Amino acid sequence: MMPPALSPENYTFLQQYIQKESGIALGNDKLYLLKSRLQPIVEQQRLKSLDELCGRLRANPPEALRRAVVESMTTHETLFFRDPAVFEMLRGELIPELVKARAASKTLRIWCAACSSGQEPYSLAMLLVEMGLTGWNPQILGTDLSSQILARAQSGRFLQIEVNRGLPASLLVKYFQREGLDWQIKDTVRRMVRFTAFDLRHNMQGLGPYDLILCRNVLIYFESDTRKKILAGLRKSLAPGGYLLLGASETTFTLDDGFLRKTMRNSVVYQTPPAEAL
Ligand SMILES: C[S@@+](CC[C@H](N)C(=O)[O-])C[C@H]1O[C@@H](n2cnc3c(N)ncnc32)[C@H](O)[C@@H]1O
Repeated sequence: MMPPALSPENYTFLQQYIQKESGIALGNDKLYLLKSRLQPIVEQQRLKSLDELCGRLRANPPEALRRAVVESMTTHETLFFRDPAVFEMLRGELIPELVKARAASKTLRIWCAACSSGQEPYSLAMLLVEMGLTGWNPQILGTDLSSQILARAQSGRFLQIEVNRGLPASLLVKYFQREGLDWQIKDTVRRMVRFTAFDLRHNMQGLGPYDLILCRNVLIYFESDTRKKILAGLRKSLAPGGYLLLGASETTFTLDDGFLRKTMRNSVVYQTPPAEAL
């Protein structure tokens, strides 16, 4: 099949449209990606071309179409225990430090921003159970822009290929049960995580304070100004001495100088100044 036609003006229109709806900045070299991701929508809607799709989007389109376009350009790639060294650092150093600091309240508040289909917050939940924090009350919040992907996260149901990625067999056996061809995460883990939709570009005032925020593999899609605004919001949502974890290719460098940059077991973490330093 011929790739769907798209004029240069409409390419610019789509770049701006997707940026406005999700913050995702598509460079000028993403024409092929855009065409391949939007082609199924063109076919589904029985349109003749991407230019025609742009016409629809300009004319106050139904919510479902707007959402489908943004969804098609969003990368939900994730896996259990993504970057195992980071989870090893959490288990061996960062969480024990937080546990010491929060010994009086026995509460840990964790936010997984941009959590996709839930593998990241559920990995954290399993890690905390494995650490045997008896008597503790860890609360994990998972948020994402896409309510479609959050519904999947909330269901706690995973495909065989998803549990094959990153999840040790011992944890699969312990925390999941088979349902047909899929795997259902057990309630002990599932009820530790609450999911809600949240656009990271929105005002974060009043959120938190969190002891730990994971915002991994999402800042890369945004422009510098958006990254700055998000990092400032995340910093203010952390408790004093709280930690932010970013993806392996992400950094606060040149974007936010309010964090203390630390290396823990070869992983970089960003901490807000502890209370005594304020
Ligand atoms: C590549 S996944 C990362 C998932 C997980 N954090 C990880 O590292 O495995 C990026 C996620 O960011 C979400 N996202 C994109 N733009 C967003 C925004 N403006 N606000 C919140 N989430 C967003 C996407 O829906 C997607 O699920």
